[in-house]
Amino acid sequence: MITFEHVSKAFDSLEVLSDLSFHIATGEIVGIVGPSGSGKTTILKLITRILVPDAGTVTVAPGTLGYVFQEPRLLPWRTALDNVAAPLRAQGRTTSEARETAGRWLERVELDGFEGYHPAELSGGMAQRVSIARAFAVEPRILLMDEPFSNVDVTLKGALMDILESIIREREPTVVYVTHELTEALRFADRIVELTPDHGLREVDLGDRAAVAREWMRRTLGDLAGRW
Ligand SMILES: Nc1ncnc2c1ncn2[C@@H]1O[C@H](COP(=O)(O)OP(=O)(O)O)[C@@H](O)[C@H]1O
Ligand SMILES: [Mg+2]
Repeated sequence: MITFEHVSKAFDSLEVLSDLSFHIATGEIVGIVGPSGSGKTTILKLITRILVPDAGTVTVAPGTLGYVFQEPRLLPWRTALDNVAAPLRAQGRTTSEARETAGRWLERVELDGFEGYHPAELSGGMAQRVSIARAFAVEPRILLMDEPFSNVDVTLKGALMDILESIIREREPTVVYVTHELTEALRFADRIVELTPDHGLREVDLGDRAAVAREWMRRTLGDLAGRW
């Protein structure tokens, strides 16, 4: 459960969020969509309490948070296995327990055989899969995803989203999925909210997802979309 009540946040004179209120129920998968610079990462940082609001309140149910960043953010000197094991060690597991769990999660993201590779030896998509394994390995009750596939090429993105979707269906965490590309969120979100130019939020009606996708294409592709 995550609740924002009348939350405002500015950086010096730059107003980013203004009087923002929304509620995300336990187990809900919510997409937050907005252009670059609209405050998406700021919302996630308020959820993790890296940032505090200038006004209003942010309430987050207790429980482990998982975070997938836009960049994989792996430790370059550690193997794939030990990157996934690191937060488990931090939670107090023994090295062998942590590595065993990490190995299972690497399998889950189809990286068995790459346990001993270092980040520099992995492709961007593989590194992002390691970071997804790392986020899920801690069994998060809330999973925050910050444009996780924006640096992954489009064919690979589909395959990664398949993996992600199946793990989410199985583990049922609360998910906040932030992206500038609405169609990514459309795929598995229960709800999508869009950040508006006046620094507020608008709920997107998902009654007809195909229509939402078409409207998005029209907005992003202009006339080109109409020719299909
Ligand atoms: N720590 C900070 N100090 C100053 N400005 C910031 C800081 N964090 C974000 N901003 C600014 O706030 C706006 C929203 O940033 P952000 O939440 O990262 O947007 P998004 O994730 O939607 O691209 C941007 O204009 C950004 O430059
Ligand atoms: Mg961002």
